[in-house]
Amino acid sequence: MTAAIPVEVPTPGARPRRLRRSPAIRALVQETRLDPAMFVAPLFVRPGRGIREPIGSLPGHARLSPDEAVREAERLAGLGVGGIILFGLPESKDEAGSGAWIEDGIVQQALRALRKRDLPLVLIADTCLCEYTSHGHCGPLRGDGSVANDEALDHLAAAAVAQARAGADIVAPSAMMDGQVAAIRASLDGHGFEDTAIMAYAAKTASAFYGPFREAADSAPATGDRRGYQMDPANGREALREMALDVAEGADILLVKPALSQLDHIAAARARFDVPIAAYQVSGEYAMLAAAAERGWIDGRRATLEAVTGIVRAGAGIVISYAAADLATWLREDR
Ligand code: PBG
Repeated sequence: MTAAIPVEVPTPGARPRRLRRSPAIRALVQETRLDPAMFVAPLFVRPGRGIREPIGSLPGHARLSPDEAVREAERLAGLGVGGIILFGLPESKDEAGSGAWIEDGIVQQALRALRKRDLPLVLIADTCLCEYTSHGHCGPLRGDGSVANDEALDHLAAAAVAQARAGADIVAPSAMMDGQVAAIRASLDGHGFEDTAIMAYAAKTASAFYGPFREAADSAPATGDRRGYQMDPANGREALREMALDVAEGADILLVKPALSQLDHIAAARARFDVPIAAYQVSGEYAMLAAAAERGWIDGRRATLEAVTGIVRAGAGIVISYAAADLATWLREDR
C-alpha cells in the first residue's frame, strides 16, 4: 500500500479568480516569465559568400554562408537573444565525417567570423558527425551497419577541439555515443580548452520530430535509423540514467530533446540535477506550429509563446528554438 498523499482541503468560498481580475494583477502573480536571454537560435551554415538559401521545411530559416551568419547573429544579438547554436553543411562528405573536425570545416569558419565580431551572444557548436558522413549516421559504420561507438568518440573529441579552437564557448555533443562527454572533456582539457563548456544532449530520443531538420542539414541516414544509439521515446528512467552519466562525465548543462513530448524529463531533470537544464524545441515542433499558423488554424504567436512557456514552466532555463527571434520580438512588443 502506498501512503496516502495529503491533499490541501479547499477553503469553502475560495475565489482564485480574485487574482485574475486585471492585466496588472495577472502580471503580478505570473509564475513563469520568458526572457530573450534564455533563448538560443539554431543557425545552419554552408560554404560561400552572400548566400541565404531558404529552408522549405523551416519557414523563416535559411542556410547561410559565414558572412550571412554574422549578419543574422548581429540581428539576434540586437533582439537580446542569448545565444546561437551552429550546424554545418560541409562542402563534401566522407565515410568518417572529417568535415566535422578539419581546421577549415564550415562550422569552424563561421565560428571564427563570429568570434571576430565579438557579439554579446553565446556561441554554441553542435558536436556530431551525421551532417558530415556520407552515410548520415552519427559515427563510423561497422560492416554490420551499426555505429562503432569508441571510434566515434575520437572523432567527436577532435570535432569539439576544432570548434573550441575556432571560438565556441560551448560544445554540444548530440551523437548519443556512450562516453562522449568524458571523451570530449578529456580532449578539450588536454588541448588547453578547459574553459570550454559542454552542453550534453543527454536525453535525446529517436524522434520523428527531427524530420524538418534532416532536410535542412541534409543529414538523414542513408540506410537504417538512429534507434541503435538515440533513446526510445518510451523510456523515462533511462533518460534520467543518461543524464546522471553525463553529469558524472562532466557535463556543465543538460539538454533534453525534443521538448514538447518530454516535458516530464525536463521536470525530472530540474528536480534532480543542480546544473542548468536546457530544452530543444526541435524542428518538427516548430514546423507544426508554423504550418498550422500558416493555415490560420491557430494563432501562431500565442501558440508558440504558450508552448515555450510550458517548456520553461516544466523546468528549462535555456530553450533552443527556431522561434527565438520571433519570441524575442514578441516579448519586446508585449512589454
Ligand atoms: C545531430 C542533430 C539532430 C538534431 C540536432 N542535432 C538531428 C538528428 O539527431 O537526427 C535535430 C534538431 C531538430 O530537429 O531541430 N545529431
